[in-house]
Amino acid sequence: MIGSGAREHALAWALSRSGDVVVTPGNAGIAAHGISCVETPATELDADLFVVGPEEPLVSGLADRLREQGKVVVGPGRDGAQLEGSKAYMKEFLVAAGVPTARYGAFRDEADAVAFLETMQAPYVIKTDGLAAGKGVLVTNDFDEARRDVEDKLRGVVFAGAGSTVVIEEGLKGEECSLTVLCDGTNVVPLVAAQDFKRLGEKDEGPNTGGMGAYAPMLQIDGRLEDELMRTILHPTLKELKMRGIDYRGVLYAGIMLTPDGPKLLEYNVRFGDPETEVLAPLYGAELFGLLHATGTGALGTVASTSDFAVTVVLAAHGYPSSPRQGDVINGLGSDGQLATPHEGVTIFHAGTRRDRDGRFVTSGGRVLAVTGVGSSMALARKRSYDAATLVTFEGRVMRSDIALAVI
Ligand code: AMP
Ligand code: GLY
Repeated sequence: MIGSGAREHALAWALSRSGDVVVTPGNAGIAAHGISCVETPATELDADLFVVGPEEPLVSGLADRLREQGKVVVGPGRDGAQLEGSKAYMKEFLVAAGVPTARYGAFRDEADAVAFLETMQAPYVIKTDGLAAGKGVLVTNDFDEARRDVEDKLRGVVFAGAGSTVVIEEGLKGEECSLTVLCDGTNVVPLVAAQDFKRLGEKDEGPNTGGMGAYAPMLQIDGRLEDELMRTILHPTLKELKMRGIDYRGVLYAGIMLTPDGPKLLEYNVRFGDPETEVLAPLYGAELFGLLHATGTGALGTVASTSDFAVTVVLAAHGYPSSPRQGDVINGLGSDGQLATPHEGVTIFHAGTRRDRDGRFVTSGGRVLAVTGVGSSMALARKRSYDAATLVTFEGRVMRSDIALAVI
């Protein structure tokens, strides 16, 4: 397992039910949970299966290097990873594939960009072309703010080189859903849909973040709607990948908006979502290894359905997302990094923690912990997650109290 966040913790924990898992580099919470973490680069490790968690190593070709060594890998090569590595590429790809998506323009020139912006209506949507850790998107009703953002991005004031092209999009309205599919190069198989809460504040106010919580399954995505998403979005995507000669073996995460004009694709990510994985991994549990191994070897069948529900609540650091503070002591955790007093159906995944000299867990990142509750109903899963989250405290802790509230 390659990576160091709560997503990798959740995946490693689920995979560890099927065999030995080594995480590189991992984090303090994963190690405390009894999963071995090493600094050795992935290319110097040996394993039956390599799972690449984050997008950066995929965009820079880690999956290609591992495959050249004959390894079985979950994660696309550099070519497929461009779907996330460049929003301008992704939009061009979607149009070529005939996938419904917001109308857009991509610009390197400021005057052209502003002229296009003037033809658009609020809400204005401005995106950094390159990787920006989920923070490169501005959605605003204020034209002047949108124009300033275009200028800042193109002048490299924010995101440096990643912003040398901007994408300006039509603002869409509707419910959002995260559909994660596994793709083995030929077959594409969906996992249950999840919903992520991207804004920092309750009622979806405040800045966009990496994600403040999630739940799954999203019951609104019934069999009929899932079929529609596969038919209008995922299957045309796979066909276009094949046409471009891209052998995509990995996870494709579709960020979809259910608009009054039908489902539209907001973005592709070429990896598991975070915090979506903190609800998906517990739901698939011991099945995950078989699924991921089949993804890597080109042998995917169908996925068994899940019967449980999961809710995860993210605890973020003071100052997140703009300037998270580090070093606050976390209360309520035992030496294994889990709840000091264990609760049924609860697992804590560590995103940004480290241990201080006295062995205490302290904050060391923007998102600090993801507290997941699983149960036979969404209400039970939610209660378990929040009951546990309440017990884990630190100075300046930021937590939304309305994750999955509307669906119970
Ligand atoms: P992205 O990283 O492209 O998924 O954008 C992050 C978030 O910005 C999405 O989850 C949406 O909430 C919002 N967003 C992105 N594109 C649009 C759009 N065209 N219209 C409305 N909201 C959008
Ligand atoms: N949950 C948003 C992301 O993983 O990009």
